[in-house]
Amino acid sequence: MNVKERLQQYADLTEQALEQALPAANTPYEAYNRLVEAMRYSVLGGGKRIRAALCLEFCRLCGGDPKDALPFACAVEMIHAYSLIHDDLPCMDDDDLRRGKPSCHIAFGEAVALLAGDALQACAFKTALNAKNIPAEQVIAATETLAKCCGYEGMCGGQAMDLDAEEHPVDFATLAEIHSGKTGMMIIAAAKMGCYAASATPEQWQAAEEYACEVGIIFQMVDDVLDVTATVEELGKPIGSDQECGKTTYVTLFGVEKTMEYAAVHNKRAKNALLAFGDEAEFLSELSDYLLTRKH
Ligand code: IPE
Ligand code: IPE
Ligand code: MG
Ligand code: MG
Ligand code: MG
Repeated sequence: MNVKERLQQYADLTEQALEQALPAANTPYEAYNRLVEAMRYSVLGGGKRIRAALCLEFCRLCGGDPKDALPFACAVEMIHAYSLIHDDLPCMDDDDLRRGKPSCHIAFGEAVALLAGDALQACAFKTALNAKNIPAEQVIAATETLAKCCGYEGMCGGQAMDLDAEEHPVDFATLAEIHSGKTGMMIIAAAKMGCYAASATPEQWQAAEEYACEVGIIFQMVDDVLDVTATVEELGKPIGSDQECGKTTYVTLFGVEKTMEYAAVHNKRAKNALLAFGDEAEFLSELSDYLLTRKH
């Protein structure tokens, strides 16, 4: 199995579905069109689509048709894109480059970027709730999960703690909490929504949650490492951003080498969680390796 090929297949499916789910900038009102253009600019044509792939693959692994989970995958990617728009704003990380292009606020101005993030969040919930071919109670449960994982108990909570931590050094336990909130919870949301789409069994649920939790940790550890080891061209976003903001990261606490050692331990745990799925979990096993060794 070629992990990059399968990722690309899922990314292509997601891109098509996102294209349909997003509004068109074709009204007589220039300001409205500008907002929609900013939404489309930040969602379409970029990003690794890791969260979408997790959602679609867990749906498949648990016995569903991945296409049925596309509205959920799109919803997660829309929330993710909104979180990146806001994350790049001057009042947060103040980064000018995202996915190899000027950040949303550089291209459209701060006010439009702020509103594009807001509108993407609403569009995400509309998209998830419009999922066809999935029983209504599963749609409601999946959407509630998304709300929980992106809000104060998840991504927003983690982002708030992340910013606060710029003011003072934090210990490892706090850092783990920040990362689990700002990054881990949306990765868990993606996996869980795939499970809801396929009405997964309790065993499948447990394995999915364990795997997603480990992958979330690997993901942010590697993100922190790449911030100091990669190039702008590789990443498509500024390097050294964490240091510039004075953030405590895995790298500041442990250094690059140790952080990668810890990430490798979480990779082993992620694979262990997949044993419940047998050979069928080959893609997710390789995905976890890929997330450990990725260069962007
Ligand atoms: C970047 O996420 C933000 C973090 C949560 C660390 P990704 O690395 O998945 O960003 P894209 O979607 O591929 O651009
Ligand atoms: C951001 O973490 C997590 C989000 C919720 C967007 P980072 O601030 O480390 O993400 P990058 O490095 O800007 O992509
Ligand atoms: Mg940030
Ligand atoms: Mg950032
Ligand atoms: Mg980062």
